[in-house]
Amino acid sequence: MTIDIKMADETGFCFGVKRALKLLEHALEAHGQIETLGPLVHNQQVVENLEHLGARAVQEVSEIIGSVAVVPSHGVPPAVFERLVDRGVTVIDTTCPNVRKAQNAAKQLSAAGFCVVVFGDPTHPEVRGIIGWAGNNGMATLDVQTLVQHPALPPRLGLLSQTTRNSSQFVDFALSAVDLLLPRLAELRIINTLCDVTKKRQAAALALAHSVDTMIVVGGRNSANTRCLANVCSQAGAKTHHVETASEIEDSWFCSADTIGVTTGTSISDNVIKEVVLKLEEIKIQLNAN
Ligand code: F3S
Repeated sequence: MTIDIKMADETGFCFGVKRALKLLEHALEAHGQIETLGPLVHNQQVVENLEHLGARAVQEVSEIIGSVAVVPSHGVPPAVFERLVDRGVTVIDTTCPNVRKAQNAAKQLSAAGFCVVVFGDPTHPEVRGIIGWAGNNGMATLDVQTLVQHPALPPRLGLLSQTTRNSSQFVDFALSAVDLLLPRLAELRIINTLCDVTKKRQAAALALAHSVDTMIVVGGRNSANTRCLANVCSQAGAKTHHVETASEIEDSWFCSADTIGVTTGTSISDNVIKEVVLKLEEIKIQLNAN
């Protein structure tokens, strides 16, 4: 019996992250030093690398000292754009087109008189941005009970999702909302704002997790799409380890007859994937020799 390593069908940077990195690269060529509003993507290693190239991450508009500011791929509320314009800086907007779609849906729903409900983590920057595009006429939650227990639930709700959420969990949330809230509502409109890349990646990870003993999920600890992948894999019954880099992988996680699956979040470079596979190959050689 030998240890076996299998890669998920979909890994590495998604098109939204590739696009953001390309825009940032051009901005660095043109301007030298630039500042990003928060991390460009949710991956510490990528952010550190960008810092070496001249892209400094700041948390607030007030911390910007240069003349060029980059809006990250997960977007910002319109009020932040206004503050950037007031400050007179050149704005490079790398908001992912899928996130922009969710922002536009929130804006249109709010303009049509709906209170926007985002199925997502209320503290996540993407979700805070989407609520901002709803003119702050909205709320975010992962628990339908938040709506059930709402003392003054608005009569018209527009439901959409954080782009990187799991589609079956969004469907469950929407079905529960119909089931539990419809008698109190005049209208419930549901818009599908899930990211297709994330959906395919979760499906590929789930298929792999069903056929292996252990899943290694590579991605930033604060990356929502990576945390969702890790959830999907552990719910499928695979022993699941979420790591940011190859150096975190431990020999003790594996037995000599294990099959290991590897999947990654959408902000993981091919180099990090190569390092992870190399580390697993080393462990495989050690275990097979014992
Ligand atoms: Fe965009 Fe989906 Fe990637 S929302 S940044 S394409 S994970």
